[in-house]
Amino acid sequence: MNGKDYTISLNIQHRIRFTRDAFSGDNRMLEKLLTDEGGRVSKVLVFIEHAVAEAFPELETQVEDYFAASEGLEFRGVRLDAGAEECKRDEQVLQRVWDAIEEEKVDRHSYVLCIGGGAFLDVVGFGAATAHRGVRFVRLPTTTLSQDDSGVGVKNGINAFDKKNWLGSFAVPYAVINDFNFLHTQPEGIRRDGLVEAVKVALVRDPAFFLWLEDNVKSLFELKAEVLEEAVERSAIQHAEHIAQGGDPFETGSSRPLDFGHWAAHKLEQLTDFDLSHAEAVSVGIALDTVYSWKTNRISEKDAHRVLDILDNLGLPLYHAAYELRGEDGRRKVIAGLEEFREHLGGQLTVLLLKGLGEGEDVHELDEALLDECILYNKAYEEK
Ligand SMILES: NC(=O)c1ccc[n+]([C@@H]2O[C@H](COP(=O)([O-])OP(=O)(O)OC[C@H]3O[C@@H](n4cnc5c(N)ncnc54)[C@H](O)[C@@H]3O)[C@@H](O)[C@H]2O)c1
Ligand SMILES: [Zn+2]
Repeated sequence: MNGKDYTISLNIQHRIRFTRDAFSGDNRMLEKLLTDEGGRVSKVLVFIEHAVAEAFPELETQVEDYFAASEGLEFRGVRLDAGAEECKRDEQVLQRVWDAIEEEKVDRHSYVLCIGGGAFLDVVGFGAATAHRGVRFVRLPTTTLSQDDSGVGVKNGINAFDKKNWLGSFAVPYAVINDFNFLHTQPEGIRRDGLVEAVKVALVRDPAFFLWLEDNVKSLFELKAEVLEEAVERSAIQHAEHIAQGGDPFETGSSRPLDFGHWAAHKLEQLTDFDLSHAEAVSVGIALDTVYSWKTNRISEKDAHRVLDILDNLGLPLYHAAYELRGEDGRRKVIAGLEEFREHLGGQLTVLLLKGLGEGEDVHELDEALLDECILYNKAYEEK
């Protein structure tokens, strides 16, 4: 028998920038990032989500003017399309992304630049990752959640078989530009709810950030621009650092701390036919796994209440009626989320619980009766 194991080492840049007015004439940061130092001209094709184009009526022209003034880049136009969760299950949107990439002859040395919320970025990102086996993808996230979490991540995906992100790939974007200006036009609920991922990342890896979030919860609830931006930036950096330095950027292992609270969240999103947003569902899921952490003596009652209170003070839910949905065997349907979470990841079931406010611990089994007790606890706590 012949054969040998080869090691393929990858060294990938994950470029993350924070700015304002990325397309104003005197902000050439984006141009510098995309321009090839060797003088080769690269094409740029831009996708903008409808809702963002509506909130910023000048944006399309600004983008056009910006690239018209860039010598090293060949602008191939702007395509507007629909976003929000619906676009992740509408195959037409993905098809239009592929069509545009083909029509504009975008190749692996060209850029697809995408401006929109997390759902839109996921679809366009999947289109870009699969066209020609991957064209360069630049994200400009426009929601709190996509700037503080998903946009700086290395995944894309669309829904299939009624399941979240069943189709998708790991693909490190060429660059991520968090332009704070986009944050302030989102509907208030969405602007606030996206902070749940900041709470999550603080809980699993940054105790000082959790304290800061607690101290600033009132201003965050009021959506004071400065604190919102600081929360977004700190959260984005924590997410990026975990991905770059956590040792498992493409999630080949079973442990996924950034998915704290997400096993129940994904199932609740599905059970509500995505009526419950990702952010709201994550809040309910964090509340559940936090109380479970307390009931299994990993954290104190007081600390569990601090977590429930910060979510509540941000106007986020701790409980949802979809918990009441039961299968023929009488079991809560949400419990099936545990098995689906394991299937999605493969390998051994691994769920992160808290052993401090800023520190997690992987476990491989959850007790159904205790989960039930925690769900009821959160229902009562929310009603108080
Ligand atoms: N790829 C990943 O790693 C990853 C991680 C976490 C979440 N996600 C996905 O992200 C999605 C949620 O993203 P989201 O919270 O950004 O929601 P979203 O993309 O659904 O956007 C929320 C709403 O805000 C609108 N909008 C977006 N930006 C706006 C702006 N600046 N002004 C006005 N309106 C604006 C959108 O049209 C939409 O109606 C989910 O599909 C979730 O699964 C992906
Ligand atoms: Zn999430």
